[in-house]
Amino acid sequence: MLPEAIRWNGNSIEILDQRKLPDVVEYINCTNVELLANAIETLAVRGAPAIGIAAAWGVVLAFKQGESVKLSIERLRVTRPTAVNLFWALDRMASASDYEQEARRIQSEDVENNRKIGAYGEKYLPKESVVITHCNAGALATGGWGTALGIVRSAREAGKNVKIFACETRPLFQGARLTAWELEQDGFDVTLICDNMAAYLMSKRKIDAVIVGADRIAANGDTANKIGTYSLAVNANAHGIPFIVAAPRSTFDLSIPNGSAIPIEERSESEIRRLPGGQTVPIRIKAWNPAFDVTPFELISAIITEDGEYEPK
Ligand code: MRU
Repeated sequence: MLPEAIRWNGNSIEILDQRKLPDVVEYINCTNVELLANAIETLAVRGAPAIGIAAAWGVVLAFKQGESVKLSIERLRVTRPTAVNLFWALDRMASASDYEQEARRIQSEDVENNRKIGAYGEKYLPKESVVITHCNAGALATGGWGTALGIVRSAREAGKNVKIFACETRPLFQGARLTAWELEQDGFDVTLICDNMAAYLMSKRKIDAVIVGADRIAANGDTANKIGTYSLAVNANAHGIPFIVAAPRSTFDLSIPNGSAIPIEERSESEIRRLPGGQTVPIRIKAWNPAFDVTPFELISAIITEDGEYEPK
């Protein structure tokens, strides 16, 4: 069963609350744009394509409730800075004549694109494969199916047997809480590793590919994705393992020549300094919490989109 991250019920937006997974599977009901903006900021809904889809439905919500569409778009634009899909979706909504139809299209096109990404990407995997992934680029992060996890799903549909190692993805554990949960629900063989175990795993086992999603891809192929992706790419290259980025074209930002111009979100220190059990660090120690990093194009073997694959080199 694939989880459904975002549902429009005709009057409001139902969001699968990803802050509570895997302990609690619960939808929250966003009945106004401010509630939705808050859900995006606090990662109840997250993942580049899903943020864009949720924001598109936010415009429908504003229109239906007689809220200012222009102000609502402005509010949604400042929720998160890195995933360009948010701005892409809001720009599409701003120029749409029928908001509901446009939001529905943005959501359904995303699933179709994921399927195409899966079909192109699965060819990179042998019949028996082992893949490492990072963060969550699955159904939870998209309209459904997923980008990186979509490739794994399409490989299975093609009769391949894929085992996945999910990096836990500190500080907010999207790999452990979300990817491991989503893949287990879908009947995959998934094993959790801490982020700092990847290089050792690569040295011990045959890994066929590292496959990740993306939040923004610059014109030269430099790719922003969840913090930790860059280290995985360095390690994959050091071990001769293909490093594959899977993302729809809406993740490209051709106005940016290279990764140095990609805005990187910095989140609260408290996300690193505390875990549910208590402090992780002496109380006065400072912390730095960039939520994304940029992988230089030279380290990327292929970027797979709905139109096929690019080799950024
Ligand atoms: O902070 P998040 O959870 O929104 O970060 C998500 C990621 O980095 C994903 O890998 C990316 O958005 C691709 S989702 C198909």
